Amino acid sequence: MTTTVITGSNRGIGLELCRQASARGDDVIALCRQASAGLSELNIRVIEGIDVGSDRCMRALPQQLDGVQVDLLINNAGILTRQSLDSLDLDEIRRQFEVNSLGPLRITRALLPNLQPGAKVAIITSRMGSITDNTSGGHYGYRMSKAAVNIAGVSLAHDLKSKGIVVVLLHPGYVSTDMTEFSGTVQPAESARGLLQRIDELSLETTGSFHHMNGEALPW
Ligand SMILES: NC(=O)c1ccc[n+]([C@@H]2O[C@H](COP(=O)([O-])OP(=O)(O)OC[C@H]3O[C@@H](n4cnc5c(N)ncnc54)[C@H](OP(=O)(O)O)[C@@H]3O)[C@@H](O)[C@H]2O)c1
Repeated sequence: MTTTVITGSNRGIGLELCRQASARGDDVIALCRQASAGLSELNIRVIEGIDVGSDRCMRALPQQLDGVQVDLLINNAGILTRQSLDSLDLDEIRRQFEVNSLGPLRITRALLPNLQPGAKVAIITSRMGSITDNTSGGHYGYRMSKAAVNIAGVSLAHDLKSKGIVVVLLHPGYVSTDMTEFSGTVQPAESARGLLQRIDELSLETTGSFHHMNGEALPW
C-alpha cells in the first residue's frame, strides 16, 4: 500500500487530495495545524499541530512518523497575501517565504529518513512563481516565495536523484478555494485529480519538472 503524506490537509486542494488518495487506497497521513470537520470525516490518520512555517515542525514530525516509510509526500500548504507596490507589508512577504518557500523544504528535510528509493515528493507551487509567465506584476510576496520554492524543488530533484527519489513542481490551476475567495474556475476535485495523475506519471527521467495539473509544461 502507498503511504501518502499531505500538508495543508484541512481544506481546499489539500483536503481533496486526502479524499481522493484515500479513496484510491493510499494510506493517507494528513498533516495540518488543526483538523476540520471535513478532514475528520475521512477516517484517515491526522497529525495536528504541524505549522510548516515554523522550525518546530522539523522536530515534531520525525517523532510522529518515526519508522514510517513514506512513498509520496505532497507539500501543499501555502498562503497568499495580496499586495501592491503601494501597500508593501514586508512582514507579510517574510511570512509567505516562511510558509511557501521554507515550508516544503522543512517538511521534505524532516521526512528524508522516511523516503526510500522510488518515493515521490510533490510541491504544489504556482505559475505565479514563473518569471516568464509574469506579465502583470504585483503580488510581491506570493510570486517571490513561489519562485523561491521552484528553485528549491529543482535542487531537491538533483540532490535526491541518486537516492532514487523523484521531485515535481505542480501548479494546481486557478482553483475555487479560500485562497482565491472561491473565484477560481476549477473545482478542487478536478485539480486534485489532475495533480495525482501528474504525480503518477512522474519518473526519475522527468524529476525536477514544472507542470500544470492539466499536463502542460510550464516555463520557469
Ligand atoms: N487556489 C488556487 O487557485 C491556487 C493556485 C496556485 C497555487 N495554489 C497553491 O495550492 C496550495 C493549496 O492552496 P488552496 O487553494 O487549497 O488554499 P487554501 O484553501 O487557502 O488552503 C491552504 C492550506 O494551507 C494550510 N496552511 C496555511 N498556512 C499553513 C501553515 N503555516 N502551516 C500549515 N498549514 C498551513 C491551510 O491550513 P490552515 O487552515 O491551518 O490555515 C490550508 O490547509 C497552496 O500552496 C497554494 O499556493 C493554489
